Amino acid sequence: TAQNILVLDKTDSTNTYLKNYLSKFKPLEEFTAIMTHEQTAGRGLRGNIWQSAAGENLTFSLLLYPDFLPIHKQFLLSACISLSVYELLLPITATVRIKWPNDIYVSEKKIAGILIENSLQHQQLKHSIVGIGMNINQTHFVESIQSKATSLKLATHADENYSVLNICQALIGIIRKNYNRLKNDAEGILHDYNAFLFQKDQLCSYQVGNEILEGKIIQVEEDGFLQVLVNNEIKKYDLKDISYLK
Ligand code: BTN
Repeated sequence: TAQNILVLDKTDSTNTYLKNYLSKFKPLEEFTAIMTHEQTAGRGLRGNIWQSAAGENLTFSLLLYPDFLPIHKQFLLSACISLSVYELLLPITATVRIKWPNDIYVSEKKIAGILIENSLQHQQLKHSIVGIGMNINQTHFVESIQSKATSLKLATHADENYSVLNICQALIGIIRKNYNRLKNDAEGILHDYNAFLFQKDQLCSYQVGNEILEGKIIQVEEDGFLQVLVNNEIKKYDLKDISYLK
């Protein structure tokens, strides 16, 4: 079934748009999707901004009601969405990986980011606003991210532009499939997420506080913690504790 997508010309942030709508007006159906050609105040993880050239990329938000997930399992939704972006890109770009917790990389460069904003009620998730930004047709990036960012067009050396709307439709279809699977096979979702992790089982450098450590990512746990093997010892890290080095 084709998905209804509300397409805006321009807005501050599709996540903010959905959040404001929900607080002011009546509840919306699950899988309501808002896409925009241009975001003037796109937001990313850890308070970062999400920059995206107007008219070239996918920036959209999807509304979900994952009330079957207790708070301590919210990471599984994030894993489900990351896996969906991965599955969308895999047939087009074989070097796609999921960088913990929920960035999507193609050949060592970031192609997509995910910002999920949850509201809670009675220790359960009430609604989740799933925001996804994916670089599609952009071929020039500002200098500060030029060496770290890519797009579908760059990664596939395509001459023609991709249809952003078609990609959005296809992605929502894959999210639907994985979201249904999450309801009865969350372990399988986490297993697949782990199978496609960036830098898994490779000796790499990470920064923890002021220290640089060498370790190998083993897996991500159900609660979202990252397990790294450091000097034959398994360490657990939270997102705020560890960063990747390049
Ligand atoms: C990140 O990598 O830090 C997450 C980036 C998420 C960007 C998307 S674009 C659509 C939605 N609206 C926002 O303001 N952010 C998300």
